[in-house]
Amino acid sequence: MNITSQIKQPILTEMELFEKKFYESMTSKIALLNRITYYIVNRKGKQMRPMFVFLVAKLLSEKNEVNERTYRGASVIELIHTATLVHDDVVDESHERRGFLSVPALWKTKASVLSGDYLLAKGLLLSLENKDFRVLELMSDAVRRMSEGELLQLQKSRLLNITEEDYFTIISNKTASLLASACAAGAYTANQDEKQVELLRSFGEYTGIAFQIKDDLFDYGTDDV
Ligand code: IPE
Ligand code: MG
Repeated sequence: MNITSQIKQPILTEMELFEKKFYESMTSKIALLNRITYYIVNRKGKQMRPMFVFLVAKLLSEKNEVNERTYRGASVIELIHTATLVHDDVVDESHERRGFLSVPALWKTKASVLSGDYLLAKGLLLSLENKDFRVLELMSDAVRRMSEGELLQLQKSRLLNITEEDYFTIISNKTASLLASACAAGAYTANQDEKQVELLRSFGEYTGIAFQIKDDLFDYGTDDV
């Protein structure tokens, strides 16, 4: 069994139900948007962030089960993540994502930017409409940090004056913030204990930093990292 399947073992039923809810959370009355979101969900990624939401929630729940708030938290996180990937592919002019043609390669810039905006809005609204205000706060903070991280990276890469400290600020903000919010949301929706929320938030932050370092190492193209 590969490592992802092993990690998923304790949350198999949750992940299965999640997929259905996640797809439902994206649907729209606009046919073009539905075509794009259908394309995206059928080429899904690792779903690492929802996995962290469920694993944390189950870890902290007394009855070893997750509630609707946790499911919504997982959907919001994956909606935001998906929105940023679509926007990233526009900005970086990437033609490929997850081994398939990217959204901008198929639908061009305008439809891609607007679809990304739509997914982001749907995510935040899912929390707001259900009065998941703490989750909304955690997610909005991640969105702010992700934008700041990307912009700092842009600013630094133009001037070529990046320090090690800058690097850590950039990766904490652009990548780790969302995993930190995923873990915090998992904790909050399980038991509303703010002490545990903060501990799990920081666990997610460090895990996210490690994840981005590994992702950057892959870009150097050696086999031995
Ligand atoms: C990609 O994230 C963007 C980064 C933060 C490096 P993932 O590697 O989790 O993307 P998917 O969802 O599995 O495609
Ligand atoms: Mg990658």
